[in-house]
Amino acid sequence: MKKISVAGIKENMLIAPDIYRMELELSEDINALPGQFVNVYLDDGAHLLPRPISICRAEDNRLTLVYRAVGVGTKIMAGLTEGDTLRVSDPLGNGFTLPESGTVLLVGGGVGVPPMLGTAIAAKAKGLNVIAAHGYRSELFLKEEFERVGQLLIATDDGSAGYHGTVVELLRSSDIPADTTVLSCGPKPMLKALVQYCEEKGLPVQVSLEERMGCGFGACVGCVCKLNQNGNIVQKRVCKDGPVFNGSEVIF
Ligand SMILES: Cc1cc2nc3c(=O)[nH]c(=O)nc-3n(C[C@H](O)[C@H](O)[C@H](O)COP(=O)(O)OP(=O)(O)OC[C@H]3O[C@@H](n4cnc5c(N)ncnc54)[C@H](O)[C@@H]3O)c2cc1C
Ligand code: FES
Repeated sequence: MKKISVAGIKENMLIAPDIYRMELELSEDINALPGQFVNVYLDDGAHLLPRPISICRAEDNRLTLVYRAVGVGTKIMAGLTEGDTLRVSDPLGNGFTLPESGTVLLVGGGVGVPPMLGTAIAAKAKGLNVIAAHGYRSELFLKEEFERVGQLLIATDDGSAGYHGTVVELLRSSDIPADTTVLSCGPKPMLKALVQYCEEKGLPVQVSLEERMGCGFGACVGCVCKLNQNGNIVQKRVCKDGPVFNGSEVIF
């Protein structure tokens, strides 16, 4: 059984409109795989369900979460300050599988960008060539952090930075090596277009899905997605069997 720990907040900073970076300190070291998430438990009475947030970085006993304040829970998180505490689960889900060699192309969209940072750092530590390609609405975040790890391609919806358009359109006009494995997290339309691009190019692709969750740890079947595995349609729980799946099997 995964445990829930009380973490101390060391920093909770606004880094782009409605986007916060929260640095947490736990009493024990965190063993996380790239692409895993934690459940955040808030004391907001009427909303007992956990909020799943991807692990942006985990190092020793420090955990970084980057989140968009969209509703009741994440707005409570945004109001927390240094010295406050937050209950977080152990790392959950399966995470990305890094290839043994070659290039990893990490494609993030919106708040799908944060989990790609920890993945980029793990890929670089493994000696892989790292290319990140991110799609933002407008304002950029985590740009310098990605530039420290590898090549960064940027697309924005409004053209305020980088390529004016979607990140998949940007990839279509970029030179991506043939030995590339694609790992991605972002909104479903982006993932769907990316999987199509990868199928055309013959590139393997793993996608991290976001579903509304209930229990958050595999008990309620509130987060199912559908896969096509060799012609068989199967249901999988995003929180327990995912959130990362073989992109070519996902039925969008
Ligand atoms: C595996 C996973 C990783 C995620 N990682 C991030 C991240 O790194 N950064 C980030 O900003 N957001 C992330 N999200 C989305 C985040 O969980 C929701 O934005 C958040 O739960 C909304 O909670 P709220 O109370 O502010 O919103 P409300 O809409 O008030 O939430 C009401 C309820 O719906 C659930 N819910 C609402 N939206 C979602 C959603 N998109 N996915 C799952 N449950 C939802 C919440 O758990 C909550 O119980 C992730 C979601 C998943 C499934
Ligand atoms: S949220 Fe309950 S099984 Fe996934």
